[in-house]
Amino acid sequence: MKFFLDTADISEIEEAASWGALAGVTTNPTLYSRVGGKLADFESHIGRICQIVGPDCPVSAESVAMTRDEIAEDGRRLAAIAPNVVVKIPTMVEGLAATRMLADEGIRVNMTLCFTVPQAMLAARAGARYISPFIGRFDDISEDGIQQVADIVEAVSNYDFTPDTVRGEQLEVIAASIRSADHVTKCALMGADIATVPFGVLKKMVKHPLTDAGIDSFMKDWEKVK
Ligand code: G3P
Repeated sequence: MKFFLDTADISEIEEAASWGALAGVTTNPTLYSRVGGKLADFESHIGRICQIVGPDCPVSAESVAMTRDEIAEDGRRLAAIAPNVVVKIPTMVEGLAATRMLADEGIRVNMTLCFTVPQAMLAARAGARYISPFIGRFDDISEDGIQQVADIVEAVSNYDFTPDTVRGEQLEVIAASIRSADHVTKCALMGADIATVPFGVLKKMVKHPLTDAGIDSFMKDWEKVK
C-alpha cells in the first residue's frame, strides 16, 4: 500500500515528505480553500507541491469545470504544470467523457467522488489512471464505506485495466475520505493500492501507546547502563 497525503497545506506536505514514506498528494477545492488559496495562485501552488514531493510522486489537482470540453481544457492546463500532475475529475457523465479525452492524450486522471462499483467500472473503462472511492462520506450517510472500497478493489482486480497504454501503468484504487488509522488498517487488509490520508491521520498512524512506553523504558534503562 502506498500513502498519499490528502491536503493542500505546504508545511504538512514538507513535513510528511521528510518522513520518507510519502508517495503522492491529493488536493481538492475544499482543501485548497482551507489553506486560504486564491484562484490566481492555484497553478503555482500545485507547482510548488510537485516540486516538494518530486517527479515520482503524483499530485492530484481537481477540475471544477462541468462540461467535457471545459474539463478536458482544464485538465490539459493542469497537466502542463508538471509531469507528475494528475487531473482529478468527479464521477459524472461529462467527467467520464473528459477522462476518455485526456487518457487518449496520455494525461493521467484520478476519478473522484466514486461511491459504487458501477461508477468505478465506468471510470476504469473511460481510462482513469486512479479511482478514488470515499469512505468517510459514505459512512456519514449510514452506508458502509469500508465495504464499498473492498467491493471496488475486488471488482477492479477481476479485470486487467491498463488505462495508460503509453506508460503501461495499471489502474490503482485510492481509498479516500479516510478519517482514522483503523480505516487505513482495513484498506491495507483488503488490498487497496493507495490510502490518501489527512496529516492528522498520518500522525496517528505512527503512534501507539505501547511504542511510546517501550521507548520510555528503554531510555530509562539505558541511563542505568551509563
Ligand atoms: O480527497 C478527498 C477526500 O479524501 C475528502 O475527504 O474527509 O472531506 O470526506 P473528506
